[in-house]
Amino acid sequence: MAVKYSGKSADSRIDPQQPAPKSPTAGSKILKSPTDVRPGLLKQQETDDDRRLDNTIRPHTFQEYIGQQALRESLDISLKAAQNRGEPLDHLLLYGPPGLGKTTLAMVMAREMNTDIQITAAPALERPRDIIGILMSLQPGSVLFIDEIHRLNKVTEEILYPALEDFTLDRTIGKGQSAKILRVPLPRFTLIGATTKAGAISSPLRDRFGMVCRLNFYTEVELMRIIHRSAGILKVNIEDLAARTIASRSRGTPRIANRLLRRVRDYCQVKHADQKMILQALAEEALDLFDIDPAGLDPTDRLLLKTMIHNFNGGPVGLDTLAAAIGEDPRTLEDVYEPYLLQSGLLHRTPRGRMVTPMALQHLKIDVGNVSLAVQQALPTFTD
Ligand code: ADE
Repeated sequence: MAVKYSGKSADSRIDPQQPAPKSPTAGSKILKSPTDVRPGLLKQQETDDDRRLDNTIRPHTFQEYIGQQALRESLDISLKAAQNRGEPLDHLLLYGPPGLGKTTLAMVMAREMNTDIQITAAPALERPRDIIGILMSLQPGSVLFIDEIHRLNKVTEEILYPALEDFTLDRTIGKGQSAKILRVPLPRFTLIGATTKAGAISSPLRDRFGMVCRLNFYTEVELMRIIHRSAGILKVNIEDLAARTIASRSRGTPRIANRLLRRVRDYCQVKHADQKMILQALAEEALDLFDIDPAGLDPTDRLLLKTMIHNFNGGPVGLDTLAAAIGEDPRTLEDVYEPYLLQSGLLHRTPRGRMVTPMALQHLKIDVGNVSLAVQQALPTFTD
């Protein structure tokens, strides 16, 4: 299977973790910010280091792919049915938080279809000629993977519509009154789009996907299996309890699990060179040193929850107000920090704003007397 990357370098992608920090709201109590940007270990965006190593540990087939079982099964059925009919697969939109394996899944599908894949990202498709060049280079049955597809500009999107629907490219020849539109036939191909923000995709584009599928966070057991598999490929010995410790601090995300595994391995290699295996105590020691707590929260997550409790009585507090109080970009808070805090039951989103949950108070060992009646009233609901 040929894999071709077009302009998908870390530089071509805007890193939502590194916004221009805003100044905190005047008059609010300011908790000390632990770091200006999220430390690399829990960064959800793919780094160059991840990309290099992911290519060695990425699963290549559905058989090797761990987790997302229902999705895998339904994709496998659609794929086999399309193959039986001798047709390419319907266009597919994959959405979900970063690091859950959208690119990996697209590569697995191309391999299962025995076809080549062209990988790009919306920020690399700025000019019409970027997308036209890619479309013209596709072979019958090829997979085109566009990451961050919600960031496509209008012109590129409009070039894509007839390409997706009728497998044609409308090219304008000449200028002014003598301009003519030439319909160029394209080979039948499959577009796999990936996004962390399904809601930000325009409806004409969304409507052109035959399948829209969500990737969910991984369970601890699935992450343990991924860690053991990656450790085998990296030739690292790890005991089961150590894999569990890393899994439990990986925010349900394979990319983070693999990154933590590599950093724990480095730690053991340097600090415990005599040990032939990563033991649970060593994994805990390393992760504590990296300031990743047992729930997988880093200093910024904890700052966010503590600011909500100490400055806003636990909420409800609006996204913009909260972002200003911790000097973060509201979109970064929403896209990067919140999904895991919501999923793990530490944060609650209400029509009146964000609220911490009793579980967050318990986790941070903060007395319930510090929070608003609204949060306290939620207590029975959350502990039921
Ligand atoms: N590495 C990263 N994601 C994986 C997955 N879902 N299965 C196996 N190995 C992985």
